[in-house]
Amino acid sequence: MKFPIRINRNLLPVFLHKIIPSAYDTRGILGDEPNLLRFEQCVTAIKIDSVWRSTYKQRHPISNRLIKELLKDLDNPLIHEPAISAGSTSMDLIDTLEDRFGHYYATDLFTKLPYRQAGKVVFFYHPAEKRAIFRVSDIAVMYEDVVNAIFPLGYLATKYLAEAPAFDMADPHYVSMVNPRLLKLTKVNSKVSLSEYSLLNPWAGEPLHLVKIANVLNGTYFSDDKILMILENAADSLVNNGVIVLIDNRKIERVSILSKEKSGKLVIQKEVNGGAYAAQIAHRVRPNLNNAT
Ligand SMILES: C[S@@+](CC[C@H](N)C(=O)[O-])C[C@H]1O[C@@H](n2cnc3c(N)ncnc32)[C@H](O)[C@@H]1O
Repeated sequence: MKFPIRINRNLLPVFLHKIIPSAYDTRGILGDEPNLLRFEQCVTAIKIDSVWRSTYKQRHPISNRLIKELLKDLDNPLIHEPAISAGSTSMDLIDTLEDRFGHYYATDLFTKLPYRQAGKVVFFYHPAEKRAIFRVSDIAVMYEDVVNAIFPLGYLATKYLAEAPAFDMADPHYVSMVNPRLLKLTKVNSKVSLSEYSLLNPWAGEPLHLVKIANVLNGTYFSDDKILMILENAADSLVNNGVIVLIDNRKIERVSILSKEKSGKLVIQKEVNGGAYAAQIAHRVRPNLNNAT
């Protein structure tokens, strides 16, 4: 059962956050210099097309240690982390690697969120389709995703979201969903970049040594066929012997490390805590020998 209406967490003591259906107040990212933890929490409450942007710092400690070890003998490895959400996990890996990489590509499907203020209420819009997707007030956060919603919350959320003004194309307002620390880093370190990229598209950049995909390749967000397509895109983006690191951590950090063989096949090299869900599909990846490097 889904709760498309959640109490604004500013109204609740922390011990109730996990007990009462509630969400952080995304309006917090509209300020100039938000506290980084608060920023990450505000981003975590964002839901676009039924995918949450949930993330937090130090979410992948096991993977980051393994990646450091894997890359230690490579000169200037090229790394891609798609689906970064607020980018806190990218900052963690960048810090772990202590600048020992050739380039760090941090990407997500969307990096900016359109919004419109109506008094104290803020409506946030779909970045591509510009329809209102959630609404935040001092009292509640209401989402458009009402599939399997508990009655009457679905009806009420739809009703209140319908009151959103149309997104103003003549005077558009966008807010970054990416951690200001990562944004700043992209300006002072030319080896770190941020861009929009869909996992469903082939990678058009230079061949990579490592792709890290965390907390997005699961049955809630993608069908197995879509996950297969994403793994094929990731495999095609790699040099021979390049590595894909798959991570799921809902409760514990489950990690699978896959390497791309000369034949183009993906082979599981190592798994921790039973491995990530998507690794079970990796054997279906069809080798694409056209772009093996
Ligand atoms: C649950 S968050 C995971 C964030 C981060 N990887 C972590 O482990 O904390 C899922 C992320 O996947 C991104 N996402 C969803 N569909 C995507 C797609 N087709 N291409 C790229 N990113 C996508 C969302 O925008 C969101 O930031």
